[in-house]
Amino acid sequence: MPSIEPIMSESSPRMVSGEPQNDDFEGLSLRPQRLSQVIGQDGVKGNLQILVDAALARQEPLDHVLFYGPPGLGKTTLSHVIANEMGVNIKLTAGPVIERAGDLAAILSNLRQGDVLFIDEVHRMSRAVEEVLYPAMEDFALDIVIGKGPSARNIRLSLPRFTVVGATTRLAMLSSPLRARFGAVFRLDFYDLPATTAIVLRAAELLRAPIERSGAEEIARRSRGTPRVALRLLRRVRDYAQVRASGIINTEAARAAMSLLNIDELGLDEVDHLVLRTIIEKFNGGPVGLETIAAAISEESDTIMDVVEPYLLQLGFLDRTPRGRIATRRAYQHLGITYPEGDGQSRLF
Ligand SMILES: Nc1ncnc2c1ncn2[C@@H]1O[C@H](COP(=O)(O)OP(=O)(O)O)[C@@H](O)[C@H]1O
Ligand SMILES: [Mg+2]
Repeated sequence: MPSIEPIMSESSPRMVSGEPQNDDFEGLSLRPQRLSQVIGQDGVKGNLQILVDAALARQEPLDHVLFYGPPGLGKTTLSHVIANEMGVNIKLTAGPVIERAGDLAAILSNLRQGDVLFIDEVHRMSRAVEEVLYPAMEDFALDIVIGKGPSARNIRLSLPRFTVVGATTRLAMLSSPLRARFGAVFRLDFYDLPATTAIVLRAAELLRAPIERSGAEEIARRSRGTPRVALRLLRRVRDYAQVRASGIINTEAARAAMSLLNIDELGLDEVDHLVLRTIIEKFNGGPVGLETIAAAISEESDTIMDVVEPYLLQLGFLDRTPRGRIATRRAYQHLGITYPEGDGQSRLF
């Protein structure tokens, strides 16, 4: 098994803000290791298999790959899978952790032929750092300045051929020159119910937790199409089943545990409800800007944009317009609030 070496800047020990990096249960990794173990995302998987097979056949390092999509859909997992399939080492870092150009230069000069350099939150790199990355990705070269002032001179060092795998929740925030340097760009979508159910069943099996198919489906239905959420809910339902029920993860245990967690039948939690209610009750259904919503409920606008909004858009509960977000008729129905006929029409245009 190839080794995994995390790279962290000493001044910022946390690798990635906001998102828990450790999705393991009791030290047991539930992350799929190989492409064949990855459930769902068939389009992405198929394309990755072709990339990997072609690179292996030519005995070349893989082209640079970019994954984008909401948190918890498998960007980090697929990066590890790529390294495993290629049989190479993976080094992990993240945009906000690479503070200076020199930090990146140090990382790059330690890479070996074929290595995968995983850069999480790749949209959060500074311009100076990006400028070191461009020639590294394109020409496998590191441009460094030696000396200071008038006697300073540039020298170009060559790097081994390596692969950057970037991940981002915000494709739009990636600079276009950086985006252009990725040979393959994959969007990860929410998982459908069968895929999410299969992920829950696989995890339960790895955990040796007794589960009924209908219980797995109930968890999957409330998981917002997101494996990370599915695994978290599985853990909560397993706890509930163990201490309050028969120990078996079934429909009843899942429903009871979710209701204690205030997660509704579509998987919406208190924050989702608060966002929708705020748009409807405080701002007459919208349009209202995201920053305004965030301020009204004292929540980070990044959380709303990355975690809350994508799923509400997917459900058709929110519309995005140039003037802000609008709550749709479906959102009103879900919350049991009467939709204001008449002015609803004019609001949509
Ligand atoms: N296709 C999948 N099949 C099984 N488990 C998955 C899949 N995608 C993600 N997971 C699990 O979901 C969790 C979150 O995935 P991760 O790769 O960390 O997401 P991201 O990097 O996009 O935020 C991990 O624990 C991983 O094991
Ligand atoms: Mg990740």
